[in-house]
Amino acid sequence: PPDIPLANVKAHLTELQSIATANGGTRAHGRPGYLASANYVRARLDAAGYTTTLQSFTYNGATGYNVIADWPGGDPNDVLMVGAHLDSVTAGPGINDNGSGSAAILETALEVSRQALQPSKHLRFAWWGAEELGLRGSQFYVSNLPAAERARIKGYLNFDMVGSPNAGYFVYDGDNSDGTGSGPGPAGSAQLERTLQDYFTSIGVPTRGTDFDGRSDYGPFIAVGIPAGGTFTGAEGIKTAAQATLWGGTSGQAFDVCYHRACDTTANVNDTALDRNADAIAYAVWTIGTAVPPV
Ligand code: PHE
Ligand code: CA
Ligand code: ZN
Ligand code: ZN
Ligand code: ZN
Repeated sequence: PPDIPLANVKAHLTELQSIATANGGTRAHGRPGYLASANYVRARLDAAGYTTTLQSFTYNGATGYNVIADWPGGDPNDVLMVGAHLDSVTAGPGINDNGSGSAAILETALEVSRQALQPSKHLRFAWWGAEELGLRGSQFYVSNLPAAERARIKGYLNFDMVGSPNAGYFVYDGDNSDGTGSGPGPAGSAQLERTLQDYFTSIGVPTRGTDFDGRSDYGPFIAVGIPAGGTFTGAEGIKTAAQATLWGGTSGQAFDVCYHRACDTTANVNDTALDRNADAIAYAVWTIGTAVPPV
């Protein structure tokens, strides 16, 4: 698997920050900064050879958009999806939440193109609208999938906040190995969890589980039984002393003190966390997407 260039991921964040700055400081659903963000992502994917769709929906009297990008080839009956929400809250530019996940999956998709990857699975990337208003874009996508199309999706990887300034390294707990919270994900989620854990193990970074508590866009996928996984570096939660010993950073402080605030700018990103997570995404896409026989 490739090493995703951190500088390229950060260049996407700079672009998203500029879009917010030019549009009243936000990239929220229904605001011009959202559509400009979607157009930026889509243009980069089109130029790289993806087949893209701008899927529109209506929520709260405003039009929202999902950007869906298919990489031509792979088994159409064995689809791996990778997604991140592209909208911010109205209070700020949403660079860690969730420019970080959006930029990391975008650069992974562009690396697929640069390498002319020929995966065994069909790869589909998605940037969701209106997550901040209740997972509206991902819910719209899943509920409007014809049953046959839905059955082809064998896994969904979600990345929402992967560059938190006081980062933790959380992996969605597909097997409920910590025995707490929401229980395991759909069958198959444990394999997605293991693949992401394997990457962090290979670079010597310990991970901990985080529950499928319904707070991000994997929700509509697991609700219909699609296996899911992903990583997360923490939001408003407070880093404990044990977590600071494990990962460094500051105990007694939020993983992201600028969560949902105007200060969630390009200054609100931990480069090391962003780099590690981008590489983890690429590792998972290459490992799962190119497995023969497919897993
Ligand atoms: N979805 C939350 C938000 O966008 C952040 C979050 C992600 C919380 C993952 C928990 C787990 O605000
Ligand atoms: Ca890297
Ligand atoms: Zn948020
Ligand atoms: Zn988010
Ligand atoms: Zn687990």
